[in-house]
Amino acid sequence: MWKPPQRIRHQTLTAPWPAAEEAAQSRLFSLLEIGRLSLRERTWVPAMVPWRATEEGEVTDDVVDWYRRFAEGRPGAIVVEATGVRDVPSGPLLRIGHDRFIPGLKRIVEAVRDASGGETRLFIQIIDFLAIRRRPEREKYLRRFLGITDAHRDAVGGESDEEIRARLIDMSDDELRDVLDEREFENLMRGFRERVTDMDQPHIRDLPKTLPGIFAAAARRAEAAGFDGVELHYAHAYTMASFLSALNARDDGYGGARENRLRLPLETFRAVRTAVSDGFVVGCRMLSEDCIHGGSTVDDAAFFAAEFARAGMDFISLSRGGKFEDALVPKVGEAIYPYTGPSGYECMPQIISDEAGPFGRNVTPAEAIMKTVRAAGCETPIVVAGGMHHFMQAETLLAEGKADIIGFARQALADPDWFEKARLGRGDEINICKYSNYCEGLDQKHKMVTCQLWDRADLDAPGVKFAPDGKRRTLAPRWAR
Ligand SMILES: Cc1cc2nc3c(=O)[nH]c(=O)nc-3n(C[C@H](O)[C@H](O)[C@H](O)COP(=O)(O)O)c2cc1C
Ligand code: SF4
Repeated sequence: MWKPPQRIRHQTLTAPWPAAEEAAQSRLFSLLEIGRLSLRERTWVPAMVPWRATEEGEVTDDVVDWYRRFAEGRPGAIVVEATGVRDVPSGPLLRIGHDRFIPGLKRIVEAVRDASGGETRLFIQIIDFLAIRRRPEREKYLRRFLGITDAHRDAVGGESDEEIRARLIDMSDDELRDVLDEREFENLMRGFRERVTDMDQPHIRDLPKTLPGIFAAAARRAEAAGFDGVELHYAHAYTMASFLSALNARDDGYGGARENRLRLPLETFRAVRTAVSDGFVVGCRMLSEDCIHGGSTVDDAAFFAAEFARAGMDFISLSRGGKFEDALVPKVGEAIYPYTGPSGYECMPQIISDEAGPFGRNVTPAEAIMKTVRAAGCETPIVVAGGMHHFMQAETLLAEGKADIIGFARQALADPDWFEKARLGRGDEINICKYSNYCEGLDQKHKMVTCQLWDRADLDAPGVKFAPDGKRRTLAPRWAR
């Protein structure tokens, strides 16, 4: 994972925690009622993939337990991990692309309702992503996968395709870079990855025709499973964020100018909105900045957010970065991972950082975006996340009007009782996240996600369940009040 060269070690906040009475009077623990969104407090657990679904994308007991554990802290809202909208194999990622997934998803809803006493609102993040393949072995790629073209023939000579392939195999990487085109060389070095701009592929060209219906059907299933709403995944490296990105140069009216890049995400939102009942919440997660060369800026994001708000979205949750374009080159046999480059760092910054540090990197952009949304006459709640771990940090942001809701992702993983402890005036008992990204390292390897602060604690306690490696407990220990 890329890290800033400055290597400045930051400290988590050590400010005093509020007493229970102060917490009760705080903005953070006050009701939020804006449009369809009604939260008991302004705390939010953003989506985090824990790699606990089956290979078929079905909910397991481990998935249910994971969400039950978050719900025990009773945050204002939990967003269930990125869940695939299509009915295609995607490894152990949750799926919602067919009605057969509804009963499993219902189990999450029931567990969260039960553990939070009905106080936590539950949303599910619904995602579409394009195909990606592992980085191939060099010889295999050049012998089997690369399509031989006239350009190759002209560059290296040779009678037959076999002869051309043999000559390519004998070349150094530097020589190959001159012979292969940019995409072919990338496929070799990073693995094949579809893009929204691959207009020669009918299924990519047709995304504007297919995706609104696919998302709408997924949202209908989410409602049938009992969720309070959906979060459309318009962030990071995935299909919808790629449509919004300034790198989207499609020439079919869905790329280029930002009005065009917005079209499919907006049409999808409208399709979803009409597919669900009136009280069902529909919001999105989007990027405040792409954080890559040539990508969308805060200005673009402010424009998109204002348009989403005008169209009637119920919330806008802001993340940043997390792109494929600047991700580290994967090893042979591994797939490129979008959180390994500088933009990935922006998404999940660590304690060893640059001058800006890991806390609140997204605050200034979020504030600018919120101002534009308000200037458009919309009260749409804005969720900000990134390094939030202390009550004072969250309360100050709300007091200064820089966000409406505070997202705690890794901090909630480190201590799911954060919310309850802070509310009860027992903030000193909170286990503060180390922002080491141990959890993210597991995520990257598609291993069951746990936290270094608790996965080796009380291993002998009754009922402890272990990750497949047999070494780590799967859930944070219970808070002994
Ligand atoms: C293990 C892990 C899995 C994540 N999975 C998702 C996801 O499914 N969808 C998403 O939008 N963000 C995902 N994120 C990003 C978080 O939601 C959040 O934006 C990021 O961690 C920064 O917030 P934090 O500093 O509070 O952790 C994930 C983060 C982690 C650590
Ligand atoms: S593993 Fe590290 S970064 Fe992840 S939640 Fe735990 S303490 Fe925080």
